[in-house]
Amino acid sequence: MSMPQVMEANMRQSCFLKDFSKGMAGNEDFPFRGNIDLECLESLLENERHRVPLVYITVTNNTGGGQPVSLENIQKARNIAHKYGVPIFFDACRFAENAWFIKQLEKQYKDFSIASIVKEMFECVDGFTISFKKDGLANMGGSLLIKDDGFFNKAYPDAKDRLTNFQILAEGHPTYGGLAGRDLKALAEGLKTITRQDYLEYRIKQVERFGLKLLNYDIPIMRPIGGHAIYIDMDQFKQLLEKYQDEVGGGVQGAGSGGVRLVPEAQLLAAGREEATCGYTSKKLLRTVVDKWHKTEEEVVPPDEKTSTKGVSIKTIWARDIYKEWEVSVCSLPQGHSGDHHGTTTKGYTLEDTVTEELSYSAKQKTTPPKPHFTDELPVVDVAPHQIIPSDQDTPDDEAITPDEIIPPYQAEED
Ligand SMILES: Cc1ncc(COP(=O)(O)O)c(C=O)c1O
Repeated sequence: MSMPQVMEANMRQSCFLKDFSKGMAGNEDFPFRGNIDLECLESLLENERHRVPLVYITVTNNTGGGQPVSLENIQKARNIAHKYGVPIFFDACRFAENAWFIKQLEKQYKDFSIASIVKEMFECVDGFTISFKKDGLANMGGSLLIKDDGFFNKAYPDAKDRLTNFQILAEGHPTYGGLAGRDLKALAEGLKTITRQDYLEYRIKQVERFGLKLLNYDIPIMRPIGGHAIYIDMDQFKQLLEKYQDEVGGGVQGAGSGGVRLVPEAQLLAAGREEATCGYTSKKLLRTVVDKWHKTEEEVVPPDEKTSTKGVSIKTIWARDIYKEWEVSVCSLPQGHSGDHHGTTTKGYTLEDTVTEELSYSAKQKTTPPKPHFTDELPVVDVAPHQIIPSDQDTPDDEAITPDEIIPPYQAEED
């Protein structure tokens, strides 16, 4: 089979599970959504064996949403492929993650170690490709590995020599170089770390926590939540965005009084219609407040043999913003009016300081913000980006400020 034919066969035929096309969200009851559709595979090989040089299973299934493939499905796919004399390979980028899911979800493997599940998985295939940047935990590198006594070598007996010859022509002899010793060492360590239950648990739970946060905001994601990534159903997400857009747009139009008027008023001014209103703006200091704690960095720290720390830990840097809260008044009388200014008042904030605190947690611990902390004494407010006034040291309290100071430039450009 020529290369273009192979590529055509690859592109034309994938045996995704049929339920995959039913929509991404809400199939929680089926845990192995990365499985290959065995009926589809059997019928493809029965009818078009000549078009199929190789069966490929991606573990976990990236294109299918980081979803796992069960060991039962891998074994059955192997049986079908071999029945028709077709070799079977893994794209093994996330092999350890897949093994973790097998341990969690396939009852008969619950007492197996990750390493022994990995062994069972790889016994089924005749070779695999792998990018070591994924579950190799390495900075660089990848591999094509072929089993000496596997179906691939039987089906394509000259392939290994041809590949080696091609490599010599394109890159040089296999012993000439390739990955640096430093990268190979990192890889050897990475492959050991990745099969640790606690490491995998931390990583996969981190993805789950992120997914649950998105679900809290009604963002439609693929469920059950997979391994290394969260996949958003863009069709549903688009509908959600349109709904929010309608609500937000309607809200602005309908805002006739009260605090929300600051932005439309200032937008009016910024849109070059200064002649319409006076726009005199002043601010009065109310109090000092803090925003909620937020994480600025999170890093997984491997166990330290010297200090005999057991298990990975998570280093988190928390940050909290301290603001001055102002009452901002904007005059909405016509320009050149006589008498006092009259208009709308709302709250604005200037950033005074950002405090940071570094904390370490074990992989199983919930990451909670620093407590007690001196900022606990201050009132907590939810500061929206459009409420932030750029700090201006030259503007004395209770003095006039320009409308530009109360509206960030990106807001001014909208509309
Ligand atoms: C499943 C899978 N296979 C292969 C690749 C390609 O790896 P690389 O970036 O090292 O070429 C990726 C990259 O994301 C992947 O997720």
